Amino acid sequence: MTERKKRIVVGISGASGAVIGVRLLAALRRLGTHETHLVVSASGAVTAAQELGLARGDIDALADVVHNVRDIGAAVASGSFLTEGMVIAPCSMKTLASVANGFADNLLTRAADVMLKERRRLVLVARETPLNLAHLRNMTLATEMGAIVMPPVPAFYAHPQTIEDVVDHTVGRILDLFGIDHEEIARRWNGLADEFGGRAAREE
Ligand SMILES: Cc1cc2nc3c(=O)[nH]c(=O)nc-3n(C[C@H](O)[C@H](O)[C@H](O)COP(=O)(O)O)c2cc1C
Repeated sequence: MTERKKRIVVGISGASGAVIGVRLLAALRRLGTHETHLVVSASGAVTAAQELGLARGDIDALADVVHNVRDIGAAVASGSFLTEGMVIAPCSMKTLASVANGFADNLLTRAADVMLKERRRLVLVARETPLNLAHLRNMTLATEMGAIVMPPVPAFYAHPQTIEDVVDHTVGRILDLFGIDHEEIARRWNGLADEFGGRAAREE
């Protein structure tokens, strides 16, 4: 039997931060370890256009397989279609609410629902600020069902110089959650002693 490539589902919803989903897809393409299945919500396409000036085709070109968010009969709508899991990056509060309450009203939220019922990895890069009680409660509900809620919060200890540095730190942490090796994407923390030693050496 020939071994097939592992699969990962990437969802992009209409929260700010379309760049996270886009750079995640680009990283997965470079790494080449997984077949990517992309689902973009209607609002996700709007924010990608507004924030990045990207057309749907530009984003779709980064994925191996593209599914229409209205295609509720797509492969990723079924648990029998084997995947390693799913990332929704960015995840809007509306999509979070749908996932947390098992609403499954489109392919994006249905695919996430499948991950939870099959006990597969589901990472929600939930983006909103400040948070109301519904957001917080939905994050708790999603966590209780096994999802990982991972807001895209910058790590200032990494001394980011560009927006890409900030985004790539988040992308690296997402890949970590799937055990995908990515040494070149984001610098790793090796302890304070190493940090000061390294910085002193750079400043000499
Ligand atoms: C430019 C722009 C930025 C937005 N940013 C956020 C955000 O950061 N978080 C959020 O929850 N919703 C945000 N929204 C609102 C969502 O797009 C809206 O709630 C939408 O219904 C989400 O639908 P979806 O979850 O199906 O993608 C934003 C909308 C626009 C147009």
